Amino acid sequence: MKSNRRRLAVLGSTGSIGRQTLDVVRAYPDRFAVVALTARGNVDLLAEQAREFQPSLTVLTGGDPAALQRLRDALPETLATTSGLEGLTTAATLPDVDMVVAATSGLVGVLPTIAAIRAGKTIALANKETLVMAGHLVMAEAKRAGVAVLPVDSEHNALWQCLRGEDPATVRRLLITASGGPFLRLPLARMREMTPDQALNHPTWRMGPKVTIDSATLMNKGLEVIEAHWLYDMPYERIAVVVHPQSIIHSMVEYVDDSIKMQASIPNMHLPIQYALSYPERLDRAGTALALPLRWDEVAKLEFESADMERFPCLRLAYEAGVMGGSAPAALVGADETAVDLFLRGTIRLTDIALIVGETLQRHNIIASPGVEEVGAVSAWAQEEARRIAERLAGASLPPAGAER
Ligand SMILES: NC(=O)c1ccc[n+]([C@@H]2O[C@H](COP(=O)([O-])OP(=O)(O)OC[C@H]3O[C@@H](n4cnc5c(N)ncnc54)[C@H](OP(=O)(O)O)[C@@H]3O)[C@@H](O)[C@H]2O)c1
Repeated sequence: MKSNRRRLAVLGSTGSIGRQTLDVVRAYPDRFAVVALTARGNVDLLAEQAREFQPSLTVLTGGDPAALQRLRDALPETLATTSGLEGLTTAATLPDVDMVVAATSGLVGVLPTIAAIRAGKTIALANKETLVMAGHLVMAEAKRAGVAVLPVDSEHNALWQCLRGEDPATVRRLLITASGGPFLRLPLARMREMTPDQALNHPTWRMGPKVTIDSATLMNKGLEVIEAHWLYDMPYERIAVVVHPQSIIHSMVEYVDDSIKMQASIPNMHLPIQYALSYPERLDRAGTALALPLRWDEVAKLEFESADMERFPCLRLAYEAGVMGGSAPAALVGADETAVDLFLRGTIRLTDIALIVGETLQRHNIIASPGVEEVGAVSAWAQEEARRIAERLAGASLPPAGAER
């Protein structure tokens, strides 16, 4: 019965999080229904998903008329299709949507997320940039509208599970775990020799190239610290990063009585997605295609150590940008995006990423409380600035931004 099912708009349904969200829907067809699906350019997968889940709206945001025509040709006439970025907001605010899964990559997720909040939709948030760059805007809107922003990212989801039922005033610290990435034990002196292939070889998680490099530099963990600051209204000095190479404990909360609560599971994104989708219920996974119980007798050891900010300066820079506040995180994200892209192209060294991001932050004139457009402008400025710094470091002009890798 459709009326008893939670009705979802999945923004970015063809991506890693989007596809895994649909796995959860597939596992619980009596609990969830899909009302809208969006992708940027992956027509074939979007059409396949639309045929399976029968949303009332399918959106292709890429703006390519031929691709839109291909989508229309591929879909039954009963499905509405639209294109362009405004389609994301249309999908996020449809009257029969209960929950918006914000799983696009990049800053493009911010406006539709804010529109969905204003329309009273619950948000299951995967999109990192939305909170890192525009956390002040998104959380203020959510507070005003009385809407919940539920984290999909495994670390924030773990914190949420540990915080549930507790008095926030009794929380001493949030402890975000980090696998440490492929270079956890590598001496600083050898970091600069690491190639993109070596950096892409993440020990526990399979993800896209940008986030995998961010995991190798611990920038990703720094972005998660900023997200945690906004989600849980926690000052930066009370958010710590703990390296935990096994990635079994996804984060921890330390309380004033010295208790530490941890959330453990096999590293896999289906669980945090499912938890956000079904909240406040926990759904039984036994017998579903998602079942993945953690066997304690197979966990040989759980190790924890402090994060080394000297060997991983990107983590320090993210903390600094968070404390600076205002538009500084947008500058951090913009500069990092360019620097990671140039590293993946083999233009700069791994260790140049932190140099470029640090210098860009130094040159940035912080805007105290930027609007969405200013956030976008700062991020674009930082990308350009990072490029100029990289050209100086490389001693040569670089191929145009956006060129094929
Ligand atoms: N993957 C993870 O395990 C993970 C974990 C935690 C948080 N996150 C965060 O979740 C977000 C999504 O991650 P992901 O790994 O799923 O990314 P992804 O695999 O790159 O997928 C991104 C999705 O967004 C669409 N998209 C990309 N650029 C767009 C644009 N400019 N306008 C509209 N749609 C666009 C893509 O469509 P096309 O396929 O058509 O290009 C795709 O559906 C990111 O912010 C990421 O940091 C990811």
